[in-house]
Amino acid sequence: MDATIVILDGDGIGPEVTAEAKKILAAVAERFGHNFVFNHQLIGGCAIDQFGVSLPEKTVEAAEDADAALLGAVGGPKWDAPSSPDRPERGVLELRKTLDLFANLRPVKLHPQLVSASTIKEETLVGVDLLVVRELTGGVYFGPRKEADDDFEAYDTMLYTRPEIERVVRLAAESALGRRRRLTSVDKANVLASSRLWRSVATDALADYPQLDVDHILVDAMAMHLIRRPADFDVIVAGNLFGDILTDEASMLAGSMGMLPSASLGDMRNRHSLPLGLYEPIHGSAPDIAGQGIANPLAAILSNAMLLRHSLGLEKEAAAIEAAVDAVLEEGVRTPDIKQKGAETVSTEVMGNLVVEMLKSNPDNQDVERAQ
Ligand code: IPM
Ligand code: MG
Repeated sequence: MDATIVILDGDGIGPEVTAEAKKILAAVAERFGHNFVFNHQLIGGCAIDQFGVSLPEKTVEAAEDADAALLGAVGGPKWDAPSSPDRPERGVLELRKTLDLFANLRPVKLHPQLVSASTIKEETLVGVDLLVVRELTGGVYFGPRKEADDDFEAYDTMLYTRPEIERVVRLAAESALGRRRRLTSVDKANVLASSRLWRSVATDALADYPQLDVDHILVDAMAMHLIRRPADFDVIVAGNLFGDILTDEASMLAGSMGMLPSASLGDMRNRHSLPLGLYEPIHGSAPDIAGQGIANPLAAILSNAMLLRHSLGLEKEAAAIEAAVDAVLEEGVRTPDIKQKGAETVSTEVMGNLVVEMLKSNPDNQDVERAQ
């Protein structure tokens, strides 16, 4: 298959993890006989430095013309001044909005090898397999706002419309049908008007899915339940802000933020008639460890698996990446964030190389067959 993939390194550890992720894609192309063309573009702080804007027009055009895009992370203290007219994060938000990527799929799976990397008790973690569907182009991230220009008053507005809620809830419901058929919708309907609309629209839409076991839970309670009984949940659908917060929390179930991939999808189709998606690890640019070569590239690498699956329809290849990651973890290879007591850790690059080797050394696809 021919595919064009836009690579958006971004800032901080972004370029470090995308470099490894790109190696994996190249290895997949070689092993399975595909032709992937990589188109590097700027976004975030590095784009501000070079072009004065966090989302250059060229980047948008490249993403629109591509089959999928892979993003590292954006942001850093260099661009944090409250007075700056543009911010790295705006680039990502704008790109999601421009491509209308309204659904952000964030699977939270505990790799059994990492049970001890989590701060949570093993007995609580058994069976954790979640898919958080975060609404990505609406809510308080995009509603009318006022900056504190007077250094006194500022506001953001949590605004949702019926169609915005309905499409993401339906997408979550469809996902749940292919999983354990449980759907939890998260809101703050006891306080927020936008949440009362969310709950009412979700209730209406989910009436079409009698096969699902549906729950509506307030976000504060959900934050607690996620830690108390995470294995009880299957698909969780939430607005932009709640989904953002809950997935950072949920990443601790998987041992590290460095393990969680994501796919942002909408109605746009690529030339393979599949969703044009933006794939990114859920972690940020981690300026504190940037440049040290110790970031965990597995979230970016696993984002590639989602890219192959959702935007290119390459299920076997996606499963091969996931199997290679599993096999490397099985061998005890760890970056510092998922370190085990007494065990040695490897660099970002070594982790990437080992996943590549694992992919290559498995020509008969054994792990893949097992994973399917
Ligand atoms: C994420 C990040 C972003 C978000 C930031 C970088 C804008 O936290 O993808 O979760 O809030 O969506
Ligand atoms: Mg976040």
